[in-house]
Amino acid sequence: MQHSTGYIIGFTAAVCLVCSVFVAGSAVSLKDRQDANVILDRQTKVLIVSGLMQEGEDLSPEAVGELFNSRVTPIAVDLATGALNNEIDAATYDQQKALRDPELSIEAATNAAKVRRLPKVGIVFQVRNESGELDAIIIPIEGAGLWSTLYGYLALGPDTRAIKGITFYQHGETPGLGGEVDNPRWKSRWTGRLAFNDKWKPSISVIKGAAGSPADDPYRVDGLSGATITSRGVDSLVKYWIGDAGFGPYLANVRGAKVKS
Ligand SMILES: Cc1cc2nc3c(=O)[nH]c(=O)nc-3n(C[C@H](O)[C@H](O)[C@H](O)COP(=O)(O)O)c2cc1C
Repeated sequence: MQHSTGYIIGFTAAVCLVCSVFVAGSAVSLKDRQDANVILDRQTKVLIVSGLMQEGEDLSPEAVGELFNSRVTPIAVDLATGALNNEIDAATYDQQKALRDPELSIEAATNAAKVRRLPKVGIVFQVRNESGELDAIIIPIEGAGLWSTLYGYLALGPDTRAIKGITFYQHGETPGLGGEVDNPRWKSRWTGRLAFNDKWKPSISVIKGAAGSPADDPYRVDGLSGATITSRGVDSLVKYWIGDAGFGPYLANVRGAKVKS
């Protein structure tokens, strides 16, 4: 049986309409679950980088939420001064969204990490031990690799100098090359090294090749082999975010005990 052109167009349009309603409906109905998964992923990354959870440990979403809420406090910080900002609800504020708002962000001076805009207010996480003492400070970090912007966290000890860990929750580097930033063995190389020298200059560097032990070689971390550009990116972005343009002023306040912790 031969169908008319009108019938074929009508039939195609009907199929497209049904499919688009189905796709749009799924996107809308799954949005809440996707948002919840993003929050869960960030919380898990913060817990891992601060050493409260082990890499690969399987906790239920409720257990992750409970551990996070009992030990981790998000704090809003004015980047320029390093002062705490009590007007912003740190639990719901989105630092990435602020970058898209000209009122809430500023253009960054040219920098090696290729950060283009800076939020006026950033979120750091204070992690406490079971006795309630400050155990770690976690700052968000981001900057250019070879193919992508890497987004992650750096965990520092309460002295703001000792590195407790590093993690990236989003990037588009090549698996097996730049993507090795996710390799737990490489990440573990950061632990126990020093972010600042004794004059408080950002001094941790990702080198080409292998560094010595944290005790012998505290300011250097192994580069990723075959991924010099990603390694350089990580080097620049870590220095940038612990430096004056990033969370340097806040970290200086923590050291000077100007910020109640
Ligand atoms: C398909 C492909 C993917 C690559 N992905 C990365 C990458 O993710 N990160 C990176 O730094 N270099 C990557 N490279 C390699 C860079 O082009 C460059 O050769 C490398 O950074 C130099 O590192 P090396 O001096 O350690 O060999 C990739 C190369 C190819 C061909």
